[in-house]
Amino acid sequence: MRILGIESTCDETSAAIVEDGKKVLSNIVASSSLMHQKYGGIVPEVAAREQIKVIIPTIQEALLDANTTSAELDAIAIAYGPGLIGSLLIGVETARALALAWEKPLIGVNHLVGHIYANWLEPASSVPQFPLVALVVSGGHTDLILMKKMGQFKWLGGTRDDSAGEAFDKVARVLGLGYPGGPEIEKVASQSQSGKSTFRLPRPMIGSGDFDFSFSGIKTAVVNIAGKGNLDVGTISYEFQEAVVDVLVSKTLKATKKYRGKSIVVGGGVSANGRLREKMADAGEKNNIDVIFPEKRMSIDNGAMIAAAAFYEKNIVDPLTLRADPGLHFD
Ligand code: KG4
Ligand code: ZN
Repeated sequence: MRILGIESTCDETSAAIVEDGKKVLSNIVASSSLMHQKYGGIVPEVAAREQIKVIIPTIQEALLDANTTSAELDAIAIAYGPGLIGSLLIGVETARALALAWEKPLIGVNHLVGHIYANWLEPASSVPQFPLVALVVSGGHTDLILMKKMGQFKWLGGTRDDSAGEAFDKVARVLGLGYPGGPEIEKVASQSQSGKSTFRLPRPMIGSGDFDFSFSGIKTAVVNIAGKGNLDVGTISYEFQEAVVDVLVSKTLKATKKYRGKSIVVGGGVSANGRLREKMADAGEKNNIDVIFPEKRMSIDNGAMIAAAAFYEKNIVDPLTLRADPGLHFD
């Protein structure tokens, strides 16, 4: 079964062709992140205006790259939320129009669920085993989910303020680094002299009895330390990354132990982070839990994960009535 997956929830526009929820035949990603760099964040109107221009060529390229004609598609999948309304509308309206014109079933996908299903895409280190705990860490969300089987999502907790990705982006801006902040912080942190710091940042809520997170306090601590002016950006970045990763790993592990999870799957832009991958894998090894991450390019927003989620969920919707849903979350 060949599905065209379309993703336009934030500043990326992506289209991909995936076979049977696993095999990525093509995955084209057009990003307007360079245009947001001078503002240190996403400007929604700029993103949407760019997406109108690139969405059709991106879909055409995905078909071409997969050596697939529109007639060979079995369905069209669209991420209809959560996200920025202007960006969502462009993907949703395009998908509705194509589904009608090409007479294909239209499948609606929750973007966050897409990040989870990225872990089923090939090449994968192993196939996730149920029950499992999923950590979704993106620019807009930080959520822990319990999955007992395909298609069943029980929300365990999430951030009470900033998401992990937002914290990376805001701290990067404070430190004078580029946008998006996650990869920039990871880069300078890896060049720093680890273990030489004279300070330690807080690990907010690491010992709380629930599965919630809070990242705005770490950001404030960084602002205070950076304001003192005698520490280098590498050291601060390193300590910040350690603090965020420690909280994410600790809470995910706690949830997995409580629900006797066999696997941990991680998705969303922050799951591209090498230090998170390293520390989560270590924790899994020590506790006999299989830890799975998508390929790095499948961690950040992409169309392939939307096509994969559509294959497993098969949430067929009416192209005449589907609406973008900026506030969509887990049930
Ligand atoms: O999932 P995503 O591509 O878009 C949303 O759904 O929001 O996530 C984007 C977020 C940004 O905050 C970005 O800074 C972060 O993911 N990110 C990273 C890394 N790569 C992207 N954070 C930490 N380390 C990275 N290597
Ligand atoms: Zn995302």
